[in-house]
Amino acid sequence: MNYRHTFHAGNFADLVKHATLLLLIERLTLSLDPLVVVDTHAGAGAYDLQGEAAAKSGEAQAGILRLIADAQAPAAFSALKQAVIALNGGGPVRFYPGSPLLIAGALRPTDHYLACELRSDDHATLQQALKPYAFASARQADGYAAAPGALESKRRALVLIDPPFEASDDYGRISEAVAAILSRQPQATIAVWVPLKDLETFDALLRRLEDAGVSDMLVAEARLRRLTDPLKMNGCAMLLVGAPVGLDHTLTEVVQWVARPLENADGLGRVWRPAG
Ligand SMILES: C[S@@+](CC[C@H](N)C(=O)[O-])C[C@H]1O[C@@H](n2cnc3c(N)ncnc32)[C@H](O)[C@@H]1O
Repeated sequence: MNYRHTFHAGNFADLVKHATLLLLIERLTLSLDPLVVVDTHAGAGAYDLQGEAAAKSGEAQAGILRLIADAQAPAAFSALKQAVIALNGGGPVRFYPGSPLLIAGALRPTDHYLACELRSDDHATLQQALKPYAFASARQADGYAAAPGALESKRRALVLIDPPFEASDDYGRISEAVAAILSRQPQATIAVWVPLKDLETFDALLRRLEDAGVSDMLVAEARLRRLTDPLKMNGCAMLLVGAPVGLDHTLTEVVQWVARPLENADGLGRVWRPAG
């Protein structure tokens, strides 16, 4: 496992993922019923944008730093902006929260959060980051395998699946995990982050899920450019299963803001439902 999220923390793809994640939690915590959240690929918890890796890639410039500087950014980003501002004590943005700190900060003491991370160094950092939250636990485990068992059939659930896509079987494991989660908790909301390189790979994932009996899907995609070079990450999508109703407009605001910096004519942000 070579992937280190610290190179990409706070980039455009994190904005799509994390703004969507917080919008989902906001909706799912409107009810008083406790919520279980499982983060199958949690990473280290938080990232130093002035650290060597983040500074080398510079990806946060067109991501969180652009967002924070834009006072006119859509309200759909408010929760994410507030979390980042709070982590930095209201000062200049140096630290960026990963999904663990965003989730833990948005949940209530009656909820439960399981964060899975395979790498021992990132797991150790994650454990430290989650220490203040009694309802949260960090497990050094394979998140695909751990997620279904962490759910109870009667408890509402949100599962974030955010793999590094460096293993050739990630797409297959995603569809198996989604099917296993739904067989355990049919009402679960599942959010899968997917890179967009070429359309065939993404279509194949949708087909696999449809073949596994998964319906009720919603896609929020942000393309930065046309998908002519399949070796590049040309955009990203959040693939949602069992999303709460009524989020389409807010998610559209998120992906359009991300995809169309400076009125980029090749950018495309849209929210759509796969037929089937
Ligand atoms: C894209 S990063 C996660 C970023 C994090 N979700 C966030 O939004 O801040 C993917 C992480 O998954 C870890 N990982 C890879 N395979 C895994 C697996 N099967 N189970 C759990 N973690 C895994 C990697 O070490 C890496 O830290």
